[in-house]
Amino acid sequence: MLQHTALLYASTFPLVFMAYATSNPNPQEEALLQWKASLADANSLSSWSPTGNSTCCSWLGVTCDAEGHVAELSLPSAGLRGQLESFDFAAFPNLTKLNLNNNSLVGDIPFRFSKLPNIVWLDLGSNYLSSPDYSRMSPMPTLEHISMWGNKLDGMFPEFILSCTKLIFLDLQGMISMGQYQIHWPR
Ligand SMILES: *[C@@H]1O[C@H](CO)[C@@H](O)[C@H](O)[C@H]1NC(C)=O
Ligand SMILES: *[C@@H]1O[C@H](CO)[C@@H](O)[C@H](O)[C@H]1NC(C)=O
Ligand SMILES: *[C@@H]1O[C@H](CO)[C@@H](O)[C@H](O)[C@H]1NC(C)=O
Repeated sequence: MLQHTALLYASTFPLVFMAYATSNPNPQEEALLQWKASLADANSLSSWSPTGNSTCCSWLGVTCDAEGHVAELSLPSAGLRGQLESFDFAAFPNLTKLNLNNNSLVGDIPFRFSKLPNIVWLDLGSNYLSSPDYSRMSPMPTLEHISMWGNKLDGMFPEFILSCTKLIFLDLQGMISMGQYQIHWPR
């Protein structure tokens, strides 16, 4: 059994590695494939594959801008199970919208999501996610819509919200307990 497993690793690893190294010069594509590979259930992402000449712009849930940068990633109710830990937020400088509502994502929300320089619309609601490390987050002055409703967030006041000077929509139910905090956003 052990021998079988070792053989399997020895024979598949170089292939997988070569496939990534040779056909994936696009860092966004590589980042998406890396995240997909980390998921326990990614059955809905069968179109996320580096084969052929197609770019990630044609993959399920991916919308690109005219220059071929990923501008939106929208995968609500996609049956995804896993974590956001391996999601390389830094690979998506042009991402404006991220919608992962109603999946089965667990673990911490990585504080690195706050480094998305152009994010406008963020919905991580209806998962099983825990609070990010607020102290390590960056200001998010581009954010207009944020929903994290229906997660396992703690009751800490999310300081980064104060940096969201363009915010129009905020839904953090479950994060702000017992109406202890009232957030008024003049606009
Ligand atoms: C990929 O593109 C190359 C050149 O751009 C072309 O020669 C080749 O036929 C294409 N392959 C597929 C599978 O479309
Ligand atoms: C949530 O996603 C599941 C599929 O994973 C779907 O069956 C259900 O209808 C979705 N719920 C909502 C409120 O969209
Ligand atoms: C994509 O992001 C880069 C880096 O932030 C920026 O220079 C470029 O103008 C952006 N492109 C679009 C179409 O927003």
